[in-house]
Amino acid sequence: MSASPTHGIAGEAVAAAAERRWAIAVVLIIASLVAMMILTGVHWAAMPPSRVETIDPRTLHISGEFAEGNLGTAMTPDGKVVVRLVAQQYSFEPQCLVVPAGVPVTFRGTASDVIHGFIVGRTNANTMLVPGFVATFTTTFPEPGEQLMPCHEYCGTGHEAMWARVQVLPRDEFLSRAGRAERLSCVPR
Ligand code: CUA
Repeated sequence: MSASPTHGIAGEAVAAAAERRWAIAVVLIIASLVAMMILTGVHWAAMPPSRVETIDPRTLHISGEFAEGNLGTAMTPDGKVVVRLVAQQYSFEPQCLVVPAGVPVTFRGTASDVIHGFIVGRTNANTMLVPGFVATFTTTFPEPGEQLMPCHEYCGTGHEAMWARVQVLPRDEFLSRAGRAERLSCVPR
């Protein structure tokens, strides 16, 4: 007696049921991924990302965090290194920044007129500076040395001439200089 045809039909039914279950599972997975994309897309479009700090670009230079006397590199009382800078057509203030090597450095920057940005040499220090917002990030420069810091957002006719320098000092040299001054920069006086 050969295998009965009913065996083949039963096998097909089992296979079809298994395929249907998998098809339903895959459709559910895709549907939940699409739902996540739509939800997060609408959410991010509807409100600014968390931790966004705003600031009035018209009063930057008068008082507050980005007044001239606060710009440059400072050590906070708990030993953190913070660099504050302002971008404007067509320069950074300060024009020369001092940071330590091998120590986390927090940048805080904003722009007073139009959108600017900067990148420090071949490092991951890279941000846009948008009027009305404070850009902040923390990075560590592994090696001492001097880096160029060009503006990398087209900001007008002087864009290509807009750049600053960053002096990455050995940690000990930085700390001894930071101990003597409230705000550090390497702008020649
Ligand atoms: Cu500032 Cu380009």
